[in-house]
Amino acid sequence: MSLVSLCSVTGSPGVTTTAMAMGTVWPVVTGRRVVVLDADASGSGVLPGYLRGAVPSAGGVLRLAATGARTAQTLLEHCVAWDEDHSRLLLVGVTTSVEARGLGGLWHTVTDLVPDLDQLGVDLVADVGRLEHVSEPTPLLERAGSAVVVTRPTLGGVLAASAGLERLRTLRGPVRATSAMLVGERRPYSADEVRHELGVDRLPVLSWDPRAAERLHSGEFLGRGPLLRTQLMRSASVVVEALRPAVLDLAGGPR
Ligand SMILES: Nc1ncnc2c1ncn2[C@@H]1O[C@H](COP(=O)(O)OP(=O)(O)OP(=O)(O)O)[C@@H](O)[C@H]1O
Ligand SMILES: [Mg+2]
Repeated sequence: MSLVSLCSVTGSPGVTTTAMAMGTVWPVVTGRRVVVLDADASGSGVLPGYLRGAVPSAGGVLRLAATGARTAQTLLEHCVAWDEDHSRLLLVGVTTSVEARGLGGLWHTVTDLVPDLDQLGVDLVADVGRLEHVSEPTPLLERAGSAVVVTRPTLGGVLAASAGLERLRTLRGPVRATSAMLVGERRPYSADEVRHELGVDRLPVLSWDPRAAERLHSGEFLGRGPLLRTQLMRSASVVVEALRPAVLDLAGGPR
């Protein structure tokens, strides 16, 4: 089981940035390939910036839904690679929430394919967008090895994250790993304060690094040295390490 689903509850805490940063470092940290699944039903956070508005010929989720997504190989064929050795892949999402309306069935199929992708050495990191969107890709939250509420360390962020964690726990039950992570620390609250408030054992932190976030957003995400050495990417590696054991713990568990 190797699907990590990232979501938000309110505002724009940095779900897309976290997903793309995790995707950038994933092969380095895990030695495995990764598909970043652009599943935000309110519209892709990836197309306008990271892909500079280019619509990939591979077609993304809409074409995959039309094709039927029968095998892991079909899913991979609908992704675009963002590095030379095709270890970082992106399944591009929808441009508007109207397009997301018919995708409910696709998310079930994609979660069914996770074990086959796992066999091929491919993990998934999903940008699920905001919880409770009318076209929320619920199966990606329900059946992920690890579901994570992304939040900022503000009062509003913490209150919302607390409600989000409760919803995810109800949806996923006690067996599957449900957690939270922070984007930025001491802005104004520390990770320890937020961890205590949320009642979680650990709280990975993606560093606040506007320059690197901007470089990533403008399409400079290939696995080249300089970006990998930024604080953003170093902290993304720690986030991957922190969220991964939860995924592995559940590898043989119930789905
Ligand atoms: N770690 C970070 N350091 C600095 N800036 C960041 C970081 N993460 C996100 N940002 C900035 O915050 C803004 C929102 O980020 P992002 O688009 O990733 O959020 P989101 O939760 O996906 O939002 P949306 O709900 O609109 O999809 C962007 O301008 C991004 O560059
Ligand atoms: Mg986003």
